Amino acid sequence: MQAIMQDRYGSAGVLESGDIEKPDIGDDQVLVRVQAAGVNPADWAIMSGLPYVARPVYGLRRPKAGVRGTDVSGTVEAVGALVTRFKPGDEVFGSADGSFAEYAAASEHTLARKPGNLTFEQAAAVPMAGQVALQALRGVEAGHKVLINGASGGIGTFAVQIAKSPGVEVTAVASTRNLDMLRSIGADDVIDYTHDDFTQGAQRYDLILDNLSNHSLSDLRRALTPTGILVPNGGRFDKRWFASGGRVIAGMVMFRFVSQTLRTFIQSTKHADLLELKELIEAGLVTPVIDRTYALSETAQAIGHVGEGHARGKTVISVSASPMVLRPGPAAQAIPAPAPIAVAS
Ligand SMILES: NC(=O)c1ccc[n+]([C@@H]2O[C@H](COP(=O)([O-])OP(=O)(O)OC[C@H]3O[C@@H](n4cnc5c(N)ncnc54)[C@H](OP(=O)(O)O)[C@@H]3O)[C@@H](O)[C@H]2O)c1
Repeated sequence: MQAIMQDRYGSAGVLESGDIEKPDIGDDQVLVRVQAAGVNPADWAIMSGLPYVARPVYGLRRPKAGVRGTDVSGTVEAVGALVTRFKPGDEVFGSADGSFAEYAAASEHTLARKPGNLTFEQAAAVPMAGQVALQALRGVEAGHKVLINGASGGIGTFAVQIAKSPGVEVTAVASTRNLDMLRSIGADDVIDYTHDDFTQGAQRYDLILDNLSNHSLSDLRRALTPTGILVPNGGRFDKRWFASGGRVIAGMVMFRFVSQTLRTFIQSTKHADLLELKELIEAGLVTPVIDRTYALSETAQAIGHVGEGHARGKTVISVSASPMVLRPGPAAQAIPAPAPIAVAS
């Protein structure tokens, strides 16, 4: 099978397309024939080996796993002896290590049936970003004011839609070109970060989901209500040793002495969360926003695009489509689009 592999850390040039054996599956695993794979900043981070503090997890000198990719959608090809949820032919989405390939193996616990109203490309956009948004926003209820910093990216576009429920007021922070898109997916208010700094305004929020770490913790606290919750969720990798890790530790100390709450978490794939997302999607409450779609042979470009930090919604690799099908023109136009949401250029 074709797969996108790397045997050293670096920029997109370290990724190579190769022909390798299909993965073997254990008794509790599922072999997925990959139709599409979502791209996340995590793929760029593992490709680059950043931050350095994560290398014991990724692999000290080279990545432990040779094939990149985690988010997946596809068709079940085979199941292990102990698998009860799936059978060959089922359409699934979720997490499978090595999803930038024609086949990937996954635990049955990290997969769920694909939402019936999504294409494979749309479904592959959901797992990591959708679950981060779901897990970060737990506890939001009617009457709350929620602010999403970095609202136009993969996680942000899910977070705006998931936060948006009756009685919840959602404010999205993004650049000028993305404000209309964010209003179209449910943001009540938008703040253009190229003109305004939300931490300096008069409004106070019950929960801030911060996808960027580009404001000081003191400024973020000032924008929270006295009992508000800050969810710090990543940031850029310009601090190559620790990324935003040092800031989270400082925050854990600072927030011990105040009435506000710092809620840290590391996303993990849960079957129950995938089911919750599937229900929201099939009810029409959440629709993935797709930025660009690439062919498998263009994976390095796809990861490079996400690594620049200005994606609009999700970037997806269509494993079953060739570049000829996806080109010319913006690739996403070749894929049946999510009807209600258009990303204006
Ligand atoms: N906690 C966890 O377990 C977990 C799991 C997955 C990901 N993460 C982290 O979550 C973060 C967000 O991930 P993602 O997938 O949403 O990233 P993404 O898709 O790359 O989104 C980046 C978005 O940030 C916007 N942005 C850039 N500068 C901004 C600014 N100054 N103010 C407001 N928005 C700005 C960009 O819009 P413009 O083009 O307008 O600049 C872009 O739309 C990453 O740091 C990632 O590592 C954490």
